[in-house]
Amino acid sequence: MGLSSFLIPILSILLLTHYQLVFTESTQPPYSCDSSNPTTRSYPFCNPKLPIAQRAKDLVSRLTLDEKLSQLVNTAPSIPRLGIPSYQWWSEALHGVANAGPGIRFNGTIKSATSFPQVILTAASFDPNLWYQISKAIGTEARGVYNAGQAEGMTFWAPNINIFRDPRWGRGQETPGEDPLVTAKYAVAYVRGLQGDSLQGGRLGERLQASACCKHFTAYDLDHWKGLDRFVTLQDLADTYQPPFQSCILQGRASGIMCAYNRVNGVPNCADFNLLTGTARNKWNFHGYITSDCGAVSIIHEEQGYAKTAEDAIADVLKAGMDVECGDYITKHGKSAVSQKKVPIYQIDRALQNLFSIRIRLGLFDGNPSKLLFGMIGASQVCSKQHLQLALDAARNGIVLLKNNKALLPLPKTNPSISLAVIGPNANASSLAVLGNYFGSPCKLVTLLQGFQHYAKNTIYHRGCDDGTQCASAQINQAVEVAKKVDYVVLVMGLDQSQERESNDRDQLDLPGKQQELINSIAEASKRPVILVLLSGGPVDITFAKFDNKIGGILWAGYPGELGGLALAQIIFGDHNPGGRLPITWYPKDFIRVPMTDMRMRADPSSGYPGRTYRFYTGPKVYEFGYGLSYSKYSYEFVSVAKNNIHLNQSSTHLMVENSETIRYKLVSDLSEETCQSMSVSITLGVTNHGSMMGKHPVLLFMRQAKQRNGNPVKQLVGFQSVKLDAGEKSQVGFEISPCEHLSTANEAGLKVVEEGSYILIAGEEEYPLNIIT
Ligand SMILES: *[C@@H]1O[C@H](CO)[C@@H](O)[C@H](O)[C@H]1NC(C)=O
Ligand SMILES: *[C@@H]1O[C@H](CO)[C@@H](O)[C@H](O)[C@H]1NC(C)=O
Ligand SMILES: *[C@@H]1O[C@H](CO)[C@@H](O)[C@H](O)[C@H]1NC(C)=O
Repeated sequence: MGLSSFLIPILSILLLTHYQLVFTESTQPPYSCDSSNPTTRSYPFCNPKLPIAQRAKDLVSRLTLDEKLSQLVNTAPSIPRLGIPSYQWWSEALHGVANAGPGIRFNGTIKSATSFPQVILTAASFDPNLWYQISKAIGTEARGVYNAGQAEGMTFWAPNINIFRDPRWGRGQETPGEDPLVTAKYAVAYVRGLQGDSLQGGRLGERLQASACCKHFTAYDLDHWKGLDRFVTLQDLADTYQPPFQSCILQGRASGIMCAYNRVNGVPNCADFNLLTGTARNKWNFHGYITSDCGAVSIIHEEQGYAKTAEDAIADVLKAGMDVECGDYITKHGKSAVSQKKVPIYQIDRALQNLFSIRIRLGLFDGNPSKLLFGMIGASQVCSKQHLQLALDAARNGIVLLKNNKALLPLPKTNPSISLAVIGPNANASSLAVLGNYFGSPCKLVTLLQGFQHYAKNTIYHRGCDDGTQCASAQINQAVEVAKKVDYVVLVMGLDQSQERESNDRDQLDLPGKQQELINSIAEASKRPVILVLLSGGPVDITFAKFDNKIGGILWAGYPGELGGLALAQIIFGDHNPGGRLPITWYPKDFIRVPMTDMRMRADPSSGYPGRTYRFYTGPKVYEFGYGLSYSKYSYEFVSVAKNNIHLNQSSTHLMVENSETIRYKLVSDLSEETCQSMSVSITLGVTNHGSMMGKHPVLLFMRQAKQRNGNPVKQLVGFQSVKLDAGEKSQVGFEISPCEHLSTANEAGLKVVEEGSYILIAGEEEYPLNIIT
C-alpha cells in the first residue's frame, strides 16, 4: 500500500475538523504603535526606520521606575499611557506549539497545534534537515496562533540542549541525547527554523519569526536530586556541557538563553557574571535576552543561601547579566533593592534594553501586524497537512529497530486475515504516553492501537497491566489467553510521564512493576516469537529480552507524537524501512550504583567510577549509542581521503609528558582560522543499500585515537548525515574533518588542543587512519 493512500483519508478527517473551527470569532493579536493613534505614532520607538537599539533606548527612557521594575518579570503588565500591551515572556514549543507555558492559549479559533515526536526520538533520525523543517513548522504555527490573538508573547523557551548525561534523568526525553555534536547541530537547526533563518544560516536579519531560547545554561541535567551542587571540571565543561550552547548562540544566533537553577562549582548560574556576560555575551557575541528558569532567582537566597537577602539575590542576577525573571521576586523585592542602593538604575536599563529589543525584533512595535512580514500566516497553517506529514516522517525516521531475529519483521501485510494481539499498558496510550512532556493539544491523535487496526482488521487489544506503565498489578493469565489465540503478538510496554518527567527522575532502569513478568509469560505461551515495542525517553535495561529467542523483534519508539501510531504500524507492516539510531547509551541496571549527582564524564578506574556516555563510559552496555537496525543491510567504503598526514609544524608546539612519553600539541586558540582551514581533510564515503527496500540511513562517522590517553574520549562522533538509498543503490557522502574542531580534545585546564599522533576514522566496520605529525 502506498504511503499517501494510507495517510490521505486520515488527514482529510483532520483537516475537516480543523477548518470547521476557523470560522468562529477571531481576535486581534496584541501590538504597540497603532497607526490610528496620533500620540503613540510619533514616538521614536514606533519608527520602524530607526535602528532597533535606538528605538529600545527611546522606549526605556520614557519609563518611570515602577514601570521599569514591572517589566523585569515574565508576566510583564501593559503600560497604557504609551500604548504598550502586556507581554508574556514564557511560552513553550519543545516539539510543537504548546500551552504548557502561560503565553499560548488554545481557547479561540485555534484549538490545537501539530504535536511532533518528543525530541529524543526526532534526534534518532540524525537528520538536521528534518530537525530544521520541524522547527520551521513550529515557528510558522506559533505565528498563526499569535495572529489569531491567542498568544501573549512570541518568546519560546526551547530547545533544551543539556547533555543527557544520566539515564535516569526525567527530562532527558526533551533533549537530543548524550552527544555534544548531535546536540549542537540540533540546537542550530532548531533555532534557525523557529526564528525564520535559512537551513544554512546567514539569512536571519533583525526580524524574528519567533524567538528561541537555549536552555538550561549550564550543566543542568538532573531533577529533584535534593538540590545538590554540581561540581564540574573545566575539561568536561569545555568538551561536553558548553559546546551545544556555544553553537546555539554563535551559529544558530539564538535570541534567548535561560540560566539554570543549579550552581556550578558554587555559583548559581543566574548569578554568574563569567557565564552570562563573560562567556555568552563577550566571548560568544550573544545579543539577545537572558531569562531565569522559573523561581531561579528566589532560590539563590531562600534555598541556596548564596545571597544573604532577597535584594542581594536581585542585585546578583542583574549584575551577572540576567534580564528577566521567571517568577515574581523582582515584583516583590525589586523596589527595595533599588532603594537600598543594591541595584543601580543602569543595570535595570541594560536589562530593559535587551528585553524591548527582542519585542521590537518580533515586530510587536510596528503597528497592526496583519500587514507585516509574518502577518499573513493564518490559522489554516496550523495543523496543516504538510505539518502532519512532517510529524509522521519524524516518527518513522526516528523509531529504532533494536532486534529482528530471523527477519520476523516486517509482518506480512498482504494477508488480510492474520490475527494480531496488541497487549500492554502503552498499547492504547493517549496524550500522556505518546506525546512526551511539554506537549500541546494535538490536532488529532492516532493511538498505536488505531495504527495496528488499520493493517490487521482482526486485532485484539488487552491492556495487560491494571494501573498503566507502573504495572504493580497485571492480568497475566488473561493476557496470555489472548496471546495464545492469535498469529502475532505485539507487546507495547515501557514508560510514560508517570515514570519519567520534569521533577521526576527514575531510580531504577528496569521496566516498572510486573512488565517483565508479563512479557516473559506471553512470549513463552505465544505461537510465534513476539514483538516488543518500548515507549520511553530514557533507556531501559531489557537484557532479558535481547537474549530471549521467544522475543523476535524489539523496537524503541521514544514518545512518537500524534501520528506515532501510524508510523509504528507502517514500520511493523513493512510500509516504511526503519533507520533510526539510538542517540543515547543504554546502560545495564546496575549503573544506578553511580550517584546521579556525579557530574564527571570521564571514568576514574581507581575508584571504580565507570564514566558516562559512549565517549567515556567503560562498562558493559545493553545497546550502544548509534545502534539501530534496518530491513536493509548497509555497507561503507572510504572512497577518498584528501590527505593522510596533517602537519602541525614543530616550531611553536607545546610539550606534555605522560607515562614518560613526550607528546607535542598546539592550543586551538593559538591557531588562526586559516590554519585550521588549511589542515582540514575532505572525506568521501561510499554507502550501499544491500536490501530490497528503499531506506533512509543515517551515516555516523566517528574517530578514535590509536593510542588512547587518559582523559580523552574512547571515541567521538565527528560527522553524521542521513542518506536516502533505493534498494541496491550505492551512493557517496562527503565529510569535512577539521582537526581544530573534530580531532581536538579538551585538556584539564579546559583548553582545546590538537595533539600529534594517529587518529582512526570509523564508519561501521571500516576504519581509516589519519596522522597528525610535527
Ligand atoms: C482565553 O483565555 C484567556 C486567558 O485565560 C482569556 O483572557 C481569553 O478571554 C480566553 N478567550 C476565549 C475566546 O475564551
Ligand atoms: C482506547 O482508548 C480510547 C481513548 O482513551 C478509548 O476510547 C477506547 O475505548 C480504547 N480502546 C479500547 C479497545 O479499549
Ligand atoms: C605548517 O606549515 C605548512 C607549510 O608552511 C603550512 O601550510 C601549515 O598551515 C602549517 N600548519 C600549522 C598548523 O601551522
